[in-house]
Amino acid sequence: MIQSMKYDKSLQERVEWLKQQLREHNYNYYVLNAPAIPDSEYDRLFSELQALETQYPEFKTSDSPTQRVGAAPLTVFTQVNHIVPMLSLGNAFSEDEVIAFDSRVRDRLSIAQEIDYACEPKLDGLAVNLVYENGILVRAATRGDGQVGEDVTQNVKTIKMVPLRLFGKNHPKFIEVRGEVYMPKAGFNALNEAARKKGEKTFANPRNAAAGSLRQLDSHVTAKRPLAMSCYDVGEIKGMQRPNCHSDVLKQLHIWGLPLIQEHIVVKGIRACLAYYEKIGNKRESLPYDIDGVVYKVNRIDLQKKLGFVSRAPRWSIAHKYPAQEELTVINDVEFQVGRTGALTPVARLEPVSVAGVVVSNATLHNINEIKRKDIRIGDTVIIRRAGDVIPEVVSVIKGRRPKNAKLIVLPDTCPVCHSQVVMVEGEAIARCSGAIYCSAQRKEAIKHFASRKAMDIEGLGNKLVEQLVNVGLVNHVDDLHKLTLDQLAGLERMAEKSAKNLLQALEKSKTTTLPKFLYALGIREVGEATARNLAYHFGNLDTLAHADEEILQTVSDVGPIVAQHIHAFFKQAHNLEVIDSLIKIGVHWPKIEVSKKVVQPLEGQTVVLTGTLQSMTREEAKEKLQLLGAKVSSSVSKNTSFVVASASPGSKLEKAQKLGVKVIDEAEFLAL
Ligand code: IVH
Repeated sequence: MIQSMKYDKSLQERVEWLKQQLREHNYNYYVLNAPAIPDSEYDRLFSELQALETQYPEFKTSDSPTQRVGAAPLTVFTQVNHIVPMLSLGNAFSEDEVIAFDSRVRDRLSIAQEIDYACEPKLDGLAVNLVYENGILVRAATRGDGQVGEDVTQNVKTIKMVPLRLFGKNHPKFIEVRGEVYMPKAGFNALNEAARKKGEKTFANPRNAAAGSLRQLDSHVTAKRPLAMSCYDVGEIKGMQRPNCHSDVLKQLHIWGLPLIQEHIVVKGIRACLAYYEKIGNKRESLPYDIDGVVYKVNRIDLQKKLGFVSRAPRWSIAHKYPAQEELTVINDVEFQVGRTGALTPVARLEPVSVAGVVVSNATLHNINEIKRKDIRIGDTVIIRRAGDVIPEVVSVIKGRRPKNAKLIVLPDTCPVCHSQVVMVEGEAIARCSGAIYCSAQRKEAIKHFASRKAMDIEGLGNKLVEQLVNVGLVNHVDDLHKLTLDQLAGLERMAEKSAKNLLQALEKSKTTTLPKFLYALGIREVGEATARNLAYHFGNLDTLAHADEEILQTVSDVGPIVAQHIHAFFKQAHNLEVIDSLIKIGVHWPKIEVSKKVVQPLEGQTVVLTGTLQSMTREEAKEKLQLLGAKVSSSVSKNTSFVVASASPGSKLEKAQKLGVKVIDEAEFLAL
């Protein structure tokens, strides 16, 4: 074999092809949220590329999809000069201030007509500058003081939605792309939850978590953090004409495969900006990321240039802020609440305070270790945070305002409800009441969980009613619910006969369920909806599951040793088996499940969109069925949609699918799946 001919052309082509495939799949997965292939296939492509690069290191280019993680830890961050300074924005807190901004803009430009403004959410993270040279990411830096930032290239490369090489051709010789690195709410909550479980320090908010994760000297740490990025601006451009409008800049960034700020639009006039503020404000809680305002930008770049800057902020843009999600208040008292699994959660009773438009008077303190770590005392002035539908929490204490008589918070020795002993499990940060089914608090929570929508879905059986039923002794365990009579229910305080009848009907209806829902409803520790579904489809019936040992349980996807232990322990308890037996005798039933050794997911990796009204099931049910088959159900049609299920009176999604040439099936074909 001739030494200089280490590989032939087809090998090089294969490497290029693998890199390109992985880039596109990364983009589909992380930017479009629409994976086109199953993870297993992605892993195969990735391993193949990795193996080839190990064998032929010359293929290992800096923009290879394998090169996102792995750089050696740094000792310090290098300083980087931004070519075009990274500015900050002026703030407006009221409509008047926004209208005054528009007047200033039009006065300076001597324009009487309405101005076109680009409107965008203002993400709460940290600004980052990406430098691409001839389409390759060569550097990423924090904003720093606006002129000089820190080189965080290795860390930014771990953010999978950031392309290491721009899509398409004809890239500028040099471009600075600006955007916000942030941590989506779900990732933030999961990260803090995991830290809490391990008794480690938590982050105060997603912004701190994003900043802390990006400013890591070891990029392996950053790689484990759920960071995301959205681009909203460019700085210097060399070797390419700058577009005429901000919206065209965003369009170009999108074409290059850069993750874009979502929900961006162009509107005419400042009134329309205010309407945008309101629209996004209404969505704020349900957005997957934290925002602290919206940004208005004069859309025409020539007008931006004419307006210029004042101190460090552009005259052509302003941030219109929403009410803060963090506020100051005082802790008046602390009580311990007992949850379904006996966990004691300390809850702070607060001096009521309005946070982002809602009056908050309670906040969770999570667990006793967290109280110690944050050194929280009764009487303290604290920062509390309320974001979305998460329970408000105490972020930190203002130590300087601690009164002399501030009281230490102590974990009670006995359960505040049933007075059983409180135990701390080794290695767990959580204190638990040992009363189990003898503790009425635990029983109440178990019943509330059983009745909840994702479990047995007993309509009309709300938390208050559960408390009442347990308090008066009519219900002790979940199987007592179905023994309730009309007389008993109608005899309850504040219960009309009509509601009592409705509840009995709902109870009857709930008897027809599915095995995954039933398993979830049992409230086995660590068994959430997804695990319940995996267990159901793995074992196919309750009996086999109940008799499975820990080793067998661990063969189910997502079930590790701890979860297996909880499941096993649950089915060993005579009381639990009695309750299950009694529920089945009462008539709780579910359709049989066809099992296979491995859960077959024929639609794995496919993205499906539903449109129109289905005759045979609700949309929720259809979604569930599709998910069981492995599909991802999306609400909008794109070129990445695998197929659309169109039923009676379909909407505009059908038209879009037809336009894009996406496959459309009807309800009958869907049922046949
Ligand atoms: S534009 C010259 N657009 O807000 C214009 N900034 O308070 C500079 N931010 O440093 C920024 N979302 O970190 C812009 N859609 C958006 C933004 C945004 C978040 C951040 C950015 C900036 C800070 C200014």
